[in-house]
Amino acid sequence: MSQTAELTLGGKSYELPVIEGSEAEKAVDISKLRGASGLITIDPGFKNTGSTQSAITFLDGEKGILRYRGYPIEQLAEKSNFIEVAYLLVHGELPTQEQLSAFEGSITEQNDIPEEVKTILEGFPKSAHPMGVLSAVISALTAFYPEALNPNPTKEEADKLINGLIGKLPTIISWAYKMAKGESTVAPSKEDDYCTNFLKVMFSKEGEDYKVDPVVVDALNTLLILHADHEQNCSTATVRVVGSSHASLYSAISAGVSALWGPLHGGANQAVIEMLEAIKEDGGDTKKYLAKAKDKNDPFRLMGFGHRVYKNFDPRARIIKKSCDEVLAALNINDPVLDIAKGLEQEALNDEYFKARNLYPNVDFYSGIIYRALGLDVELFTVMFALGRLPGWIAQWKEMREDNAPIGRPRQVYTGATERDYTEVSAR
Ligand code: SDX
Repeated sequence: MSQTAELTLGGKSYELPVIEGSEAEKAVDISKLRGASGLITIDPGFKNTGSTQSAITFLDGEKGILRYRGYPIEQLAEKSNFIEVAYLLVHGELPTQEQLSAFEGSITEQNDIPEEVKTILEGFPKSAHPMGVLSAVISALTAFYPEALNPNPTKEEADKLINGLIGKLPTIISWAYKMAKGESTVAPSKEDDYCTNFLKVMFSKEGEDYKVDPVVVDALNTLLILHADHEQNCSTATVRVVGSSHASLYSAISAGVSALWGPLHGGANQAVIEMLEAIKEDGGDTKKYLAKAKDKNDPFRLMGFGHRVYKNFDPRARIIKKSCDEVLAALNINDPVLDIAKGLEQEALNDEYFKARNLYPNVDFYSGIIYRALGLDVELFTVMFALGRLPGWIAQWKEMREDNAPIGRPRQVYTGATERDYTEVSAR
């Protein structure tokens, strides 16, 4: 039986429908509130506001549950691979072998980018942060692939655009990385799997027979799967809003990259390593930094801790922490900041301030330690987050367009000057 909520104001009552999702989540539907009452609601940061109904990813922040299209993240991270998960997110079901081969083939077939992109990349100073370069180049792709501007592509056209972007991202990232280092770029492979190709275009050098370590390929698949989607986070909400104006998929994804860059969001994985390095340089005094994180007069935050939704362990952090030990052991790497991270985690988890606020390690707390072990510079960590999140952003953009979602345009409550007449201060 459908439920309703009642809002009473100024002696008037308004009945509002209550919707219920497949996991018994309930929401008061206020889509007709203003028309019926002249009222709007306000919720800075959308902490209590849902922007859409979605069938892609389910999170339960209290229980620490994360599922892509119903499949638990723990099972996908252990048994699947990134391209199969990308197909699942974008198309809603796990692919048959034939569907997976066609999907992967279309991605590989389109993993080239125009040589003219090098001219764009040459325009950036070598010190440019790769997230700014990535956002700019993705947006620039509309110049080379104007078919992306079609707001109503056929299914085939949309699939080609989607697969093409998934294929091109590793090439864009590697060209930006190598050109910033003054190294020659490497053409993407037409034979290798997605993660092997990424490692080769990033780390192989002309004339060198670069051998890809299967441990690194496996760790990369796991990391990309764990980052692939996370329902309506800041950057995904950005992709949806930009896409709702019928701007191109490239424009929406470019905006998502920019939103992800912030240190409160995906940029945290870089900030975590910088924080751990600072603690190490400062003698490893974790108690001092925990006190700073709790001090309201100190802007310092424990990066990699806390989450808008998870009020329990971020299930991705558990998996990455375990993978940290395995990857560093397999690569015979001893990284002192891992010990500092573990010490900090233990102290925070036993500290009243953190416990009272349900602050636990999130996906960014340990991921940087693995990225560093894989040989990636710290400024590339958030780029790796974007590479993983791409299929999720695309799936959310596709669902929003297929739902024919209205353009995203929030209302406001005005608090500025009331009407007043212009008085001439100086003649025109
Ligand atoms: C990601 O949304 C997603 O799904 C994002 C993500 C994804 O996959 O897309 O999961 C990826 O962005 C993970 C989060 C990465 N960011 C960080 O690690 C940065 C550090 N964390 C915080 O800045 C914070 O926890 C946020 C931004 C993640 C969440 O902020 P909220 O939900 O707005 O919570 P808040 O800032 O209102 O904090 C509530 C309380 C406050 O204290 P009081 O005012 O109640 O006294 O907790 C405190 C905050 O001061 N707090 C922290 C803290 N995080 C929150 N105190 C110290 N250190 C922290 N890290």
